[in-house]
Amino acid sequence: MRVLVAIASKHGATAEIGERIGRRLSEHGIEPLVVDVADAPSPAGFAAAVLGSGVYAGSWIKAAKNYVETHDEVLAEIPVWFLSSGPIGDPPKPEGEKAVDVTELTAKVDPQRHAILSGALDKGKLNLAERAIVAAVRAPEGDFRDWDAIDDWADEIATVLLQN
Ligand SMILES: Cc1cc2nc3c(=O)[nH]c(=O)nc-3n(C[C@H](O)[C@H](O)[C@H](O)COP(=O)(O)O)c2cc1C
Repeated sequence: MRVLVAIASKHGATAEIGERIGRRLSEHGIEPLVVDVADAPSPAGFAAAVLGSGVYAGSWIKAAKNYVETHDEVLAEIPVWFLSSGPIGDPPKPEGEKAVDVTELTAKVDPQRHAILSGALDKGKLNLAERAIVAAVRAPEGDFRDWDAIDDWADEIATVLLQN
């Protein structure tokens, strides 16, 4: 069973989550194709899709939004999971649904689930504008990704796919 894992990531944190999900799905005998969403093929022919993005100013990165909008008809016909990597800190902030608004995308493809997962912030990788924003909101630096939660989420996806 082929599953597309297409990720938009500015600074690599979400891309690594995508890689991890791909590895975990492989352990269940699923064949993932993990790609940058900008290089992703059409989802036609895949059994399912996992679409993810880092969160910037409460939204997905444009390439991820564009992908959903371009392929919404095919995506509406297969099981889709959304993941957002955004909140940072311990406890993670912004909390839960406040981190990201994917209402319009959800309305188009009705995902099985949207997971909001803690992300990572390395100030050394940011451009000047981004540095100004994180300074203004006093965003904490660090890697807050919860690999156990990510593995659990990938396991849930595998369970749903393998029982269908
Ligand atoms: C300029 C900037 C704005 C951000 N805005 C948000 C936001 O609105 N909500 C959120 O949850 N996280 C926000 N974050 C945190 C990122 O989503 C988080 O660091 C994520 O893991 C980055 O993923 P990437 O490295 O794959 O791009 C922001 C980070 C930066 C640098």
